[in-house]
Amino acid sequence: METTLIILKPDAVQRRLVGTIIGRFEQKGLQVVGMKLMKISPDLAARHYQDHSSKPFYPALVKFMTSQPVVVMALSGVGAIAICRNLMGATFGSKAAAGTIRGDYGISNSFNLVHGSDGPEAAQRELGLFFSPGEIHSYPMAGDTWVYDASSGKPE
Ligand code: RTP
Ligand code: MG
Repeated sequence: METTLIILKPDAVQRRLVGTIIGRFEQKGLQVVGMKLMKISPDLAARHYQDHSSKPFYPALVKFMTSQPVVVMALSGVGAIAICRNLMGATFGSKAAAGTIRGDYGISNSFNLVHGSDGPEAAQRELGLFFSPGEIHSYPMAGDTWVYDASSGKPE
């Protein structure tokens, strides 16, 4: 079981795509274990995107991510990190495959609607930046008996 950080970026909120995008993750079978609307501070954006600080697009990225409120979510599921990245699609909306969130709802390369952690280390670090421990909830989902096959003893 993994938990990943998803951010519905300012363009997703402004374009009223919050419900649609959350629905894509929910319908796949992922579980919402944390969620809030917030405005990202420049300091938090810098920490979140620290690996990109030397890239040419970095100043515009921080400006964009801090410009308007975002929805941050912690999503759980077996293999959740890679599953979310696949649902999101390639980075650039212009290149992302149809059927993915970025491929279906965006054209822009930088305004690409959604962020997802790119690996287990990133997920742990990013969840810690955006959520305090009490804001992430572990709770049973009645429907999981049909989302996962648990006949082998572990959910598959
Ligand atoms: P993210 O971190 O937001 O989930 O996106 P990603 O892994 O698919 O892409 P990454 O390489 O980490 O880039 C972070 C974000 O920076 C913006 N970007 N703009 N105009 C450009 O050349 C460019 N390249 C990257 C995008 O908003 C991208 O999601
Ligand atoms: Mg990234």
